[in-house]
Amino acid sequence: MKIVFATANQGKLREAAGILGEGYELVTPAMLGITEDIPETGTTLEENSAQKAEYLYSRCHTDCFADDTGLEVNALGGAPGVYSARYAGGDGHDSQANMDKLLRELQGKEDRTARFHTIVTLYHGTEILQFEGEVRGRIGTEKKGDGGFGYDPVFIPDMVPAEDGTIVPNTEGLTMAEVPAAKNVISHRAMALKAMAAYLHSKE
Ligand code: IMP
Repeated sequence: MKIVFATANQGKLREAAGILGEGYELVTPAMLGITEDIPETGTTLEENSAQKAEYLYSRCHTDCFADDTGLEVNALGGAPGVYSARYAGGDGHDSQANMDKLLRELQGKEDRTARFHTIVTLYHGTEILQFEGEVRGRIGTEKKGDGGFGYDPVFIPDMVPAEDGTIVPNTEGLTMAEVPAAKNVISHRAMALKAMAAYLHSKE
């Protein structure tokens, strides 16, 4: 079955393909000649994810899905949230500036708990559904590790995968950038995509 994923990110594409498994052919908007930026002007992850999927559906009229992710920090009232990519201003590609701003905003704050939160919106036949995934953790006091991307060097997940594949408490306080392997197992996006995959497989 063909399904269009609103992304130009090859890493995300591979991750989704691995989770959906055989039987699903993932197509990008670019492969269908849809090359314009897909609008994301919502003020919540739910709105943005829905807006992207709706736009894509209006262009391709076939089953499709879109994701939107944010880092939600409790002491900052859920910020940067839907504005995570552009937290420090600019065009959204300056992860260092975003992390620097986050560390500054949290200076002196005791509660450093946070989560990565993903909402996936799926257009499937006549149905429109949303799926959610999260990974809980806290923000460290400095950047550590060089794996991953975005806020990974300052995000310390509560749980990490052990060598035997079990999920165990992160007693060493490793950041997501220090355990990139964790991404495939515990990531917020993987959780949301797995929930979507379970739904799709139940409809086969
Ligand atoms: P997007 O919706 O997947 O494009 O994510 C929006 C922003 O959230 C990205 O630009 C990153 O700053 C941040 N982000 C999303 N996923 C991750 C992640 O797995 N690790 C670190 N940062 C992330």
